Amino acid sequence: MRYSLVLPLVLAGALPAAADGLYTGGPDAAPDLVQRIADDSTLGTEALLSPEGDLIAQGRYIATAADCAACHTAPGGKDMAGGYAIASPMGAIIASNITPSKEFGIGNWSEEQFAKALRQGVAPDGHLYPAMPYTAYAGMTDADVHALYSYLMQQVQPVDVAPAQQTQLGFPYDQRWLMAGWNLMFAGGTPAQAADVAPGAEGRGAYLVNVLGHCQTCHTPRNLLMGETSSAYLGGADLNGWHAPNITSDKISGIGGWSKDEIVSYLRSGAAHGKAQAGGAMAEAVGKSFRHLSDADLEAIAGYLKTVPAIHAEGQTIPSYGVTKAADVQMMAFDAPIDHAPRAMADGSSTDGAEIYAGACSSCHQLDGAGTADQFYPSLSTNSATGGLSAANLVMAVANGIHRETNGYTVSMPAFGDTLSDPQIAAVSNYVLTSFGNKDLSVTAQDVAQMKAGGPTPWLLRATPWLLGGAVLVLVLLLAALIGVIRRKR
Ligand code: HEC
Ligand code: HEC
Ligand code: HEC
Repeated sequence: MRYSLVLPLVLAGALPAAADGLYTGGPDAAPDLVQRIADDSTLGTEALLSPEGDLIAQGRYIATAADCAACHTAPGGKDMAGGYAIASPMGAIIASNITPSKEFGIGNWSEEQFAKALRQGVAPDGHLYPAMPYTAYAGMTDADVHALYSYLMQQVQPVDVAPAQQTQLGFPYDQRWLMAGWNLMFAGGTPAQAADVAPGAEGRGAYLVNVLGHCQTCHTPRNLLMGETSSAYLGGADLNGWHAPNITSDKISGIGGWSKDEIVSYLRSGAAHGKAQAGGAMAEAVGKSFRHLSDADLEAIAGYLKTVPAIHAEGQTIPSYGVTKAADVQMMAFDAPIDHAPRAMADGSSTDGAEIYAGACSSCHQLDGAGTADQFYPSLSTNSATGGLSAANLVMAVANGIHRETNGYTVSMPAFGDTLSDPQIAAVSNYVLTSFGNKDLSVTAQDVAQMKAGGPTPWLLRATPWLLGGAVLVLVLLLAALIGVIRRKR
């Protein structure tokens, strides 16, 4: 038995909880959203970030589109100096210092060595874990690798310090050479040709999605050995407690019903009104990467997503963003004694979902769940976080909050993970589901605890002791057989 191990690319979904107090902001504080999004799009496409600029500018654009900083720049840390811990079921994997520091970074690496690490996951001193998305970057063109290398070497400041933490996984996952077996099964792929994927070329959208944006590393479910399940490409996957939804062209289960403009607006600002907003790892990807892409590139992504083969979830009849609120909601909500809610939250006594909703949520999302007129505080019906087949993003948004940087303003929902107990988060989530979302879904306090802890333990990890035991057994049997053979020969 081969232990191809492996780590899923589980990005730390746990964004720093919004620092705001519970009732800050408030609907009245929301400035004009349309204006902010307009500001956003102009800022994102500056000449500096032009995909066709000079070599260094091109390299910076590739680094942005491929979101190297998402992992290699720790929150509050120096550019590309590493140290960010990427949560994986096997333990935290610490991103490396990739500044041109000769001692602590990649300052001594040739372009060839850099390309091999980037595309094949093999660094000069050994195999990398696939928490570094080399399975996606395998397709990067020579020209883009060259630009990226030039940018990192010439433009990024060397940081002569090693990341504060080290990756320390338990046996057998600390055996990096085992990745060679995994790579045979799940990595590889050939670099694209520059002419096929240049800005404006037909293959541009696929290149942005599969190679630079590495969307599939989060949106494609993983198999038992944690490789991507290619037959379910972009079909939706659980991700460290959150859920990266189905983004295939299916009109019901995917985003086939979204217009191209809505996809572009979502990638640019993190919100498509009446459909979805970006929390968790997607908030980070929008904030650091997608919103900086050129209009043409975002349109290419939207165009390509429209062609991705539809994957339909058995039994789903309404799109996740198509669920409208229950007819009797208004009554339920207005019955709730608003004055009592803060007390209920403070002493943890109430598990009445309506009461908690009135106290903790209604100041922004409104009692009737419709949000504010400009949707800066979004409606909780016709919202993919509440109307789909998974309650994960609702629960995780409540527990961890939402924090997204966009040009010129910050989107922030406070985290309730410390103020509300797991039974209370379950209660308010169930109230939101029955009132505004998918009435057939419900969550228990145990579900909430599991999501907060990063989701269910993957099979490979649960099976590791058995696999190890099995391997020892196979060895013993082999040895016994061998001894038998030798004896018989004698
Ligand atoms: C999803 C997170 C993630 C993204 C995105 C990412 N990396 Fe990494 N990268 C890592 C992690 C984690 C490691 C360390 C892996 C290990 O220890 O096996 C790593 C390792 C590396 C290494 C090897 C460094 C060494 O000293 O061995 C290089 C080079 C590298 N990344 C470059 C890049 C570049 C360039 C980009 C953008 C094109 C990028 N990475 C994007 C997570 C990421
Ligand atoms: C690091 C992981 C990650 C990467 C990379 C990523 N996504 Fe996501 N995506 C998510 C998560 C998690 C959500 C759910 C966000 C939420 O609802 O709060 C999401 C949500 C979305 C949605 C909204 C879908 C819906 O029905 O609500 C779209 C569209 C989307 N992503 C497109 C993309 C595209 C296109 C790319 C690549 C260019 C991409 N994503 C890359 C994790 C990721
Ligand atoms: C201070 C204002 C505020 C409060 C209080 C608040 N929210 Fe939010 N909520 C937001 C903002 C802002 C967003 C994100 C909007 C965006 O991304 O454009 C959001 C997003 C959401 C989402 C979408 C999550 C996703 O991943 O797509 C859900 C569901 C949600 N809130 C539920 C709740 C619930 C339930 C409560 C009460 C426990 C609550 N909110 C309290 C402001 C608030």
